[in-house]
This record gives sequence, structure tokens and C-alpha cells, in this order.
Amino acid sequence: MRLIIENTPKEVARWTADHIIKRIKEKAARTDEPFVLGLPTGSTPLETYAELIRRYKAGDVSFANVVTFNMDEYRGLPADHEQSYHRFMWDNFFSHIDIKPENVNILDGMAADPKAECADYERRIAEAGGIDLFLGGIGEDGHIAFNEPFSSLSSRTREKTLTQDTILVNARFFDGDASKVPTTALTVGVGTVMDAREVVIIATGPKKARAVRHGVEEGVSHVWTISALQTHPAGIIVCDDPAAEQLRVSTYRYFKDIERDNLMSNR
Ligand code: GLP
Repeated sequence: MRLIIENTPKEVARWTADHIIKRIKEKAARTDEPFVLGLPTGSTPLETYAELIRRYKAGDVSFANVVTFNMDEYRGLPADHEQSYHRFMWDNFFSHIDIKPENVNILDGMAADPKAECADYERRIAEAGGIDLFLGGIGEDGHIAFNEPFSSLSSRTREKTLTQDTILVNARFFDGDASKVPTTALTVGVGTVMDAREVVIIATGPKKARAVRHGVEEGVSHVWTISALQTHPAGIIVCDDPAAEQLRVSTYRYFKDIERDNLMSNR
């Protein structure tokens, strides 16, 4: 696992956007196949999306040959609901870049048959050739996508019940009213994320420090689903200093040193 520790959320966004752009260009130089990008919602990726939009507008990158798969969607919210993840993605990212609408994949929270919708999503990912890079955030309890604590680490796309903690944390998007937050969501599984050729998880702020510690220093456990990243051959966590504050000093120094060396050798 790589752990990139930057000073600020802005630097996290810049590092992450640079990395995604680099990967899109590397694949484009090799093949005409589209780049398949897994994407999250939440407040953390907003700055990364803003940076990607800025770079697109500057002519540094095109998303015309990118296919996206979002991680999750609330169950019961129509696509045009202001808190649906469909709306979030179009408002904050897709509407501002040259992505083709037919290349955007987001689970349908209103599907009459959620099981079939989830199975179909897995099939669509496979048909696209698998995900090249899955970008994700983390919940305060270490969940990735909506894989709440005790989710199977080999889980696939399915409907999940949200924990009371997640409902309370997300109530801020629903006028602070927990009763308005959907109680379930459709989400890719931990196994679905781990099948991606590369996984990049971003975490900023002190509220994520415990999750980062569990992801990096504690054992692999379904209690903190982020810890599955330790088993991935190309897993990266990109965090800011406050999100790294619960790491041991020795861990912090190790990653700072080794990434400084990476930086030098990449020049
Ligand atoms: C939700 C999403 C996750 C996201 C998490 C953290 O639970 N399903 O994918 O990582 O929120 O969100 P934030 O970045 O706002 O802290």
C-alpha cells in the first residue's frame, strides 16, 4: 500500500487529479479502449472534481473516452432528487466535462428489482473490461462506498442497510433531519472495489484519522472495511495531515520518507 500524506485538502485534490489524469493518458497511449473509472460521492472528492474540471478546461485532459461507474446510490431517491448521487455527480462533475452521458453508470436507486439492478451493474463492469482505477472516500467508521462495518470483504454489488452512525453523519445533507435519510442504499461491494486494477482512497480532516489508522496500521478486518485495501496489489490512500494524526510517528515518517524518494525518482 502507498500512503501519500499531503498538507491540505487542496494538495490531496491536486495529487489525486494529477494521478487520475496520468493514468488516463497512459492508457490512451497504449490502446483505444476506454479508461474505466470508479467514482465516489461525498464532500471529500469535491475538490478533486473541481481540480479535474479545471484541468479539463485548461485542455490537459479529455474524458471523451472515459467510462465511469459510481460506487453507490441511495435506495428510493429518484435520479433528479437533489440529494441523489445522480444529481451530485452531474452537478459537481459530469456537466462540466466532455464525458458522454452513455458512458456514465450509476446504480438506479428506484429499480423495481434491486437484486437484478445490482447483478446487472456487476455485469456492466465486467463488460467494460473491469475498472482501471476506483477512486473512493471513507466514512468515519472506515466504510468504503456503503460497505458498513461487518460487510463481507468479498461482497459484490447489493442493497445494504445503513448504520445509524452513517444516517446521522449524512443527515447534514437532508436539512439535518435524520428521518429524511434513506435507510438503505445500493452499493458496490468491497470485492467489487478490490477487483479494480488500482484503488485510490482519499481522506481529509481529523474525523477520518481513526479510519486511516485502521486502514494503514491495524489488521485486515470486516469491522473497518477500508482495511481490505491492504490486500490490494495497487492500493493508495491519499490524506491530509489532520487525517494522518492518529498514525504512529514511525509510520508517518516511513511514508513521508518513501514518498519523498518516489517523488525524486519520478522527476
Ligand atoms: C458516504 C458515501 C461514501 C463516502 C462517505 C464519506 O457514506 N457512501 O462513499 O466515502 O460518505 O463522505 P464524506 O467525504 O462527505 O466524508
